Amino acid sequence: MPQITIPSANISFECDEHDTVLRAALRAGLGMPYECNVGSCGNCRFEVLSGEVVHERENPPGWNEQRDKAKNRYLGCQARPLGDCSIKVPMRPEYKSQFLPARTTGKLVAVEDITHDIREFRFELTEPNGFLPGQYALLAVPGVEGGRAYSMANAGEPGRWDFQIRRVPNGQTTSALFDKLKPGDEVGLDGPYGMAYFRDESPRDVLCMAGGSGLSPMISIARAFSASTTSPDRKLHFIYGGRTPRDICGESILKSLPGFGTRILYHCAVSDTAHPDSAGWSGRTGFVPDLAVELFDDTLANFEIYFAGPPPMADAIMKMAITHKAPVGQLHFDKFY
Ligand SMILES: Cc1cc2nc3c(=O)[nH]c(=O)nc-3n(C[C@H](O)[C@H](O)[C@H](O)COP(=O)(O)OP(=O)(O)OC[C@H]3O[C@@H](n4cnc5c(N)ncnc54)[C@H](O)[C@@H]3O)c2cc1C
Ligand code: FES
Repeated sequence: MPQITIPSANISFECDEHDTVLRAALRAGLGMPYECNVGSCGNCRFEVLSGEVVHERENPPGWNEQRDKAKNRYLGCQARPLGDCSIKVPMRPEYKSQFLPARTTGKLVAVEDITHDIREFRFELTEPNGFLPGQYALLAVPGVEGGRAYSMANAGEPGRWDFQIRRVPNGQTTSALFDKLKPGDEVGLDGPYGMAYFRDESPRDVLCMAGGSGLSPMISIARAFSASTTSPDRKLHFIYGGRTPRDICGESILKSLPGFGTRILYHCAVSDTAHPDSAGWSGRTGFVPDLAVELFDDTLANFEIYFAGPPPMADAIMKMAITHKAPVGQLHFDKFY
């Protein structure tokens, strides 16, 4: 099996030819920087000192063929070794996984519609593995090239991973999941991954923000918060944004949690008020970051802040949080590329 060596850190680990350098490093309990795991963010870039690697995904968006290739740089989440390699990458212990990521299969045991285009898919794992609330896994459906990242919605039960997934028009994986997958069918699962997990040790109030497909990890964090006995005086505020009223969701799930209405509070807003479907909406309007400012303004820096959703929304929340002086160390997020 190919051996990957990082001379500057005096480390080496095995990476089989069907695995990628990043995932093998994390499976070996090492801390290698990353974020999306699907070739989009570029945060897992490393330099090949000797040996050869090949990208799993052709021309991944987080890699520039001219600039990166000239410097022998590749993406850890996409690079498969063709033999022994020596690489240069700044290792960072905070990226070590508490639960080592592993590849297994999941059997679909139940589905439940949440909105017109978000559905929960519940899988039983062949080989159970735990995860931290807010983390994600790579899900591979037969016939689609490359796994896609999906965040778990439950709170870390080892044998069951639930995902709340939004249908993307003509999306390869979501079309297969929504239109073809039946209870009893199996998918490939690889995880857990991700750094936007619940920091239960923080005594601060929690602010969870999501729009569209970002629902799942925020629900996972809210579930873990509800069950936690650490800092019982903390509150969790959950903000969810949708284009029109039929996109609004999350409240009925949170209502089933102990502490809803006292420790767990739900707020939502509709952004497309000119849309005919929004006629008759009497709730709040606007975008998620605007609602956060309206509700919390100068106190935003006091929260542990979690958010997830499409990159433009995540970028707008990040900008808003920094403008309101929220320390970067209190921001935990996944951009859903
Ligand atoms: C960390 C993270 C967590 C996420 N969590 C959720 C979630 O909880 N719920 C949810 O609904 N969505 C989530 N997403 C988005 C999800 O991963 C998909 O992008 C989305 O469902 C569209 O997939 P698709 O195959 O249906 O669409 P497609 O249009 O077929 O695929 C689009 C996505 O797949 C990527 N892609 C294309 N080809 C490849 C390949 N060969 N290998 C790897 N990737 C490829 C593209 O960059 C793009 O991101 C998350 C994304 C990330 C990065
Ligand atoms: S983690 Fe590899 S490109 Fe995002």
